[in-house]
Order: sequence, then structure tokens, then C-alpha cells
Amino acid sequence: MALVSGTEVVNECLSRGLVAGAFNTTNIETTMGIVQAIERVGVPTFIQVAPTNVALSGYEYIYDMVRRRLETTDVPVALHLDHGKSLDAVEGALAARFTSVMIDASEAPYEENIATSARAREMCPPEVALEAELGSIGGKEDEIGPDHASNTDPNQVGHFVEAVQCDMLAVSVGNVHGYAPDARIDFDLLADVRSASSVPLVVHGGSGLPAEQLGRLHEFGVVKVNVASDLRNAMIRTFGEAYAANPDEVSLIRVSKEAVAAIADVVERRIRILNPTAA
Ligand code: 13P
Repeated sequence: MALVSGTEVVNECLSRGLVAGAFNTTNIETTMGIVQAIERVGVPTFIQVAPTNVALSGYEYIYDMVRRRLETTDVPVALHLDHGKSLDAVEGALAARFTSVMIDASEAPYEENIATSARAREMCPPEVALEAELGSIGGKEDEIGPDHASNTDPNQVGHFVEAVQCDMLAVSVGNVHGYAPDARIDFDLLADVRSASSVPLVVHGGSGLPAEQLGRLHEFGVVKVNVASDLRNAMIRTFGEAYAANPDEVSLIRVSKEAVAAIADVVERRIRILNPTAA
């Protein structure tokens, strides 16, 4: 199946009461692992990459790899730009035919966040879903994190979504990027944000949140949950363990296949946790 637009993934999830996992790729092993899991579970999904992780390959390479792997898959999948912190990043992803985009100007003052995000909306064709962020999610991804994390203010949500015309809103409600064992969703705040938002919500920082919290997000208008650290760690751990077991190990292909299997297991578990009644 060809890549579908982010809007199609969102709409199908909303109509089937599902939450899409959004899994970060960096390389071929991660992509293969993600798609293996998607094929097992059958839930529409985002595969995404942040500008920090295209440093190795470029947007076109990621697009070609993901598109080619999906040719033999029936599950709808969108290719998403994660944390596009500049309009240049948005332009790069659009030029490479990504089908969904996040503009993240959440660290800028409110009016500047609106202006930058609205500009990204103008750049995206209507079929490319746009995610924008209000409030600034704490923690670090690829050593990058905000100087000051801040929660999403429910009083700003209606105006922000209307002004930007985004299709999804990324929220900061206690979720934190990276391994953060103390991260907890503030469900009262999430409920207030949800009431104020006319578009579905996105929760970042899926790796650090406990399963019982992830399993409740579908009740709160959340349609997309981002997971990165868990997959990355599965791959690094596999290679680390292979080396520790045998410092003379040279079968890269065997260890690579083990890494794919480990990533697929992590992704499958996350999709099932996010969709306790469906998957
Ligand atoms: P984790 O690394 O905590 O899963 O967060 C990923 C993320 O939110 C990517 O945008």
C-alpha cells in the first residue's frame, strides 16, 4: 500500500476509536521493526523522523526506505516530520513527500508560535496533516530540550487551534521526552485541554509513561502517541549485549536481525497498550 496522508490515519483512528502510535525511525533496522509490528497488529500508524535523525541520511532517503517497505503492507501508514523546529525543516520534509508534518514553535512566545505554525499551515497542502504544539514538553530528545518546560494552558487552546488551523495539537500535560520514570499525565488538565480543543490531541514522550496511563489516553481525545526512546534503546541494547557476549562478534546481519525483532516486540507492545480494547 502507498503511504497515506496523516489526515487519513487520524480519521481512520477516530472512526474506529483507536490511538495511532507514532514511532521514530532513524535507519533501516528501526523501520523494518516498526513495520513488522504494524503488520501484526493492523492499527493505522505514523512512522516519523525528527530533523536530528535525518542528519545521517536526509529526508529523501527516509521517504524512499519507508515507502518501499510499505509496498507489501495493507495497514495505513503516514510518514510524519517530528519536531520540525524550523520552516526549513518543514520545507525539506514536504519536498521529500512526507504526508504529515509537525511544526514545533512551542518555545517561542505565544504570538510567535501562532505566526510560525500558521505559516507552516500555508506551506502544507491540505492533504498533509499538520501538528502544532502549545505548551512546551519537558525532557530531552537527542540531547535537545526546552530551557523552560511549560504546561498547555487550556485558556489558549481554542484560539491557538483556530488561528493555526492545525489538524492535531501536541500537548504538555505532564508528559516528558526520554526515559522519565516520574512522568505522569495530569488527567484533569488533559480533560480541560480536550474540552477546549476542536482537533484531536497528541501526547509525546510515550516511552516514560506507565502502561495504565497510556491505556487511558483514548478516553481523552488523544489520537497520536509518540514513542522513540524505547525503540532506540532496544536496538542499542541488542548490539551492546552481542558485543558483551562476544567481543569478536562479526555477524552484523545476525545481530541486525535480532535488533529488528527486538524493535518489533517493543512497538507491538506499545500499540496494544495504547488500544486496550481494540488491538
Ligand atoms: P520518548 O522518547 O519519550 O518515547 O518520546 C518520543 C517523542 O515524543 C518524539 O517526539
